[in-house]
Amino acid sequence: PAPQPWSQRFESALHPAIAQFNASIGFDIALIEYDLTGSQAHAQMLGKTGIITSEEATKIVQGLEQIRQEYRNGEFNPGIEAEDVHFAVERRLTELIGDLGKKLHTARSRNDQVGTDTRLYLRQQIRDIQAQLRQWQTVLLDLAETHVETLIPGYTHLQRAQPLSLAHHLLAYVAMAERDWQRLDEIYARVNISPLGSGALAGTTFPIDRHYSAELLGFGGVYGNSLDGVSDRDFAIEFLCAASLIMVHLSRISEEVILWASEEFSFVSLTDSCATGSSIMPQKKNPDVPELVRGKAGRVFGHLQGMLVLMKGLPLAYNKDLQEDKEALFDAVNTVKACLEATTILFQEGLVFRTERLAAAVEADFANATDVADYLAAKGVPFREAYNLVGKVVKTCVSQGKLLKDLTLGEWQVLHERFEGDIYAAIAPRQVVAARNSYGGTGFEQVRQAIQEARGAIRSS
Ligand code: ARG
Repeated sequence: PAPQPWSQRFESALHPAIAQFNASIGFDIALIEYDLTGSQAHAQMLGKTGIITSEEATKIVQGLEQIRQEYRNGEFNPGIEAEDVHFAVERRLTELIGDLGKKLHTARSRNDQVGTDTRLYLRQQIRDIQAQLRQWQTVLLDLAETHVETLIPGYTHLQRAQPLSLAHHLLAYVAMAERDWQRLDEIYARVNISPLGSGALAGTTFPIDRHYSAELLGFGGVYGNSLDGVSDRDFAIEFLCAASLIMVHLSRISEEVILWASEEFSFVSLTDSCATGSSIMPQKKNPDVPELVRGKAGRVFGHLQGMLVLMKGLPLAYNKDLQEDKEALFDAVNTVKACLEATTILFQEGLVFRTERLAAAVEADFANATDVADYLAAKGVPFREAYNLVGKVVKTCVSQGKLLKDLTLGEWQVLHERFEGDIYAAIAPRQVVAARNSYGGTGFEQVRQAIQEARGAIRSS
């Protein structure tokens, strides 16, 4: 293998195990398309500023394009002797266009180069994940639309609290995904800043034009300080925060699906396309998809933690520790994408809500007790007094194995003279839901409006 570009400074070759240990080509090959694009912009900038001739720049750009084709055809597979993707490309370029290839690295360092590549990569990933979030929201909204009038028990402390429109429950996750989308959009602006031209750490002696290369690459600005440019990984940490929150949200809905699919809840059944069986228990149908999503959340949080610890003690500027940012970032990106895709498919075709079970569930509890208290309060009884009275009624009903709807009008009127025949309508689950028509509440009218608003937000973005 050809020696390292820096080998003239050294007496002897790297120990093979150390070469292996040091190399990042095994994973940073994922940056190759961004590395080529970044290098093409750098070469064009060198041509434009007269640091190399424009013919030289054109030949370099073409050589890099040829490497892109080779890579896409599966013909460019550098091994660990290349150390990293940057050296691999430079070496191949020199094979292809001769000594001119050695001019590409003028006025540049791998330190600003790798920062540029990573930002170009992440920028693309952010847009891809945003598109996936839109897809996820659309599936939830379609499902919500068909379930506005489907009721589901609502819980606090995992105890029955008040019944809900199932659409309202699903719309909570649409709202979380909306924040995730917005957060990525805000982070994009800070990812999209060019460190190219920061050099190794201090800038360069050549008359470069950093704004020009940044413009060619579509960056929104350039780092104002070269030390910061080569050593900042805030943008990666911010992304990992956003990725972690996406995983929190996916993990929460996964946990709900797992509960809902249990014999105890039986609110959903899993279709064959998204469930798996057991190797020993023939009756099993397991919710592997949401379990895996819940599990993979931990991995992404780990990458966030890892990156914070990676950065906290680093003196300026570049340190090799920074090579460790890549696998964390790549794995977080791949995990979030895979989980968004799987969860979207799960909700599109993997779940069937068992509406008969849901209807029976909301009929058979005391989740309408608040409405009895509200009923009296609306008739002028102070709320706390009404609340205390209903508490006693619930206690009596529980001891007699009855529900509130089982009480006769005579029994209601013994409890309080303000009760009239309309109490039955007021505590029917459908009415309990419909009545919560405050803005953002579960009332059917509110829910229909919320679906329209969410669709509007997606359309206008
Ligand atoms: N492979 C290195 C990384 O990922 C590229 C930058 C190397 N720079 C250096 N000064 N050793 O960080």
